[in-house]
Amino acid sequence: MRPVRRSLPLPSASSALAVGLRVLLLLSLCSRSQAVQAENVTVLEGGMAQISCRLQNYDGSIVVIQNPRRQTLFFNGTRALRDDRFQMVLFTPRLVRITLTNVSVSDEGGYFCQLYTDDTHHQVATLSVIVPPETPSIELKKEAVEGSEVELTCLSPRSKPPATLRWVRNGREIPGVISHQDNGKAVSVSNTIKILVERRDNGAAINCEASHPALGGQKRVRHYRLDVHFAPTVRIIPPQGILREGDSLSLTCSVIGNPMPRNILWSRVNDTMPDRAEQSGNILLMSRLSQSHNGTYLCQAHNNYGRAADHYTLLVYDYVSPSTSPPDFPKNRIAVHPTNPGAMVDVPSSVPYAVIGGVLALLVFTVICVLIVTIWCSVRQKGSYLTHEASGMDEHGEVQEAFLNGNDSRDGTKKEYLL
Ligand SMILES: *[C@@H]1O[C@H](CO)[C@@H](O)[C@H](O)[C@H]1NC(C)=O
Ligand SMILES: *[C@@H]1O[C@H](CO)[C@@H](O)[C@H](O)[C@H]1NC(C)=O
Ligand SMILES: *[C@@H]1O[C@H](CO)[C@@H](O)[C@H](O)[C@H]1NC(C)=O
Ligand SMILES: *[C@@H]1O[C@H](CO)[C@@H](O)[C@H](O)[C@H]1NC(C)=O
Ligand SMILES: *[C@@H]1O[C@H](CO)[C@@H](O)[C@H](O)[C@H]1NC(C)=O
Repeated sequence: MRPVRRSLPLPSASSALAVGLRVLLLLSLCSRSQAVQAENVTVLEGGMAQISCRLQNYDGSIVVIQNPRRQTLFFNGTRALRDDRFQMVLFTPRLVRITLTNVSVSDEGGYFCQLYTDDTHHQVATLSVIVPPETPSIELKKEAVEGSEVELTCLSPRSKPPATLRWVRNGREIPGVISHQDNGKAVSVSNTIKILVERRDNGAAINCEASHPALGGQKRVRHYRLDVHFAPTVRIIPPQGILREGDSLSLTCSVIGNPMPRNILWSRVNDTMPDRAEQSGNILLMSRLSQSHNGTYLCQAHNNYGRAADHYTLLVYDYVSPSTSPPDFPKNRIAVHPTNPGAMVDVPSSVPYAVIGGVLALLVFTVICVLIVTIWCSVRQKGSYLTHEASGMDEHGEVQEAFLNGNDSRDGTKKEYLL
């Protein structure tokens, strides 16, 4: 043996082989060594998380799973912590899996998969909890009054990662002031807008939309209607045509306002309401009118934001019996009969103006006629006087000529003649 060994020419080769063998042994040892792998988990709040520990070359060592506070949940398959939300669902030589139901944000953190061997191997599975936003809520700082600025806040109290809030009106975004507030593990998001409101904005639809990665493309939308307060506007709708004794009258008072005025008050200016006047809601009814009903009637309404009134002047005309009316009719049209002016126009006040106008026209016409006649007469008179004088006094020829030529020169002299 010894000579053989000595005869070996390459002792260095033998040592190389030994090194190689040792490397092989090490490699085989390595490949046979146990290992554990953990996977990160992301889950929706309230959902179920699966925490898996993958094993390699499991040889029956103890497997320990711990929560982020390093409390042992399971000791080689046996429950260690009293929390029924955790269940061991799988224990095979390749995979150990536990589940956690009704996950909350406080469950977030690193879960330890640990293998007790000669040297301790461990891996951490990070659990992340996603909190999708609820439908946001809307807060109004103070009530909206026409002509003022209204401050609206859209609020999403909890989401993770933070939700995106947008105000939308008629498909257009209204830019607002966004603020984030960390409350524990979730985030509170708000978006505040300020808009100037008019009464035409009352009832306008405006939405706040929350979007979030956990909702996909969907949005949680809060619908809102602007409630713009304004003082009332009152208008009496007058009856058509004229009213005569015996007719009945129904006056409607049309009121708008926000809030809608609850009471409508009918009254008569400087007088009491007639006995036969009846108010039903916003309508004033008067049957069998008489001239004692003449007067100014007021409709008034108010709310917290102001008051308004409108008036109507009632004039009751004489009763005209149907048999006598037709022959009277044409006459009334021409010479306005004071007791029957309705035959002319609805508005009685225009009758005196027409009469005055006519009389004035007549007067002007007469004055013009008188003037023309006077001028004509005086011209004729002066003409004869001038001819008469010219024949007697030749020095005045210049004057005569001036007059006959017209009004061009010597105004003073001419006036003298005319007077
Ligand atoms: C798991 O999550 C932790 C913390 O967020 C991170 O550092 C690590 O790289 C993640 N591991 C994998 C495999 O994604
Ligand atoms: C740990 O549990 C596994 C699976 O039940 C078992 O095969 C193994 O022997 C246990 N190890 C110890 C040390 O009890
Ligand atoms: C889930 O957990 C929350 C608190 O985190 C609790 O209020 C709720 O009742 C639980 N739901 C169920 C079904 O256990
Ligand atoms: C009511 O009376 C007042 C004072 O007498 C007077 O000034 C006013 O014109 C009257 N109004 C009507 C509509 O008659
Ligand atoms: C009522 O009004 C009508 C129309 O102006 C008038 O003719 C009549 O004299 C009035 N009557 C009274 C009592 O004022």
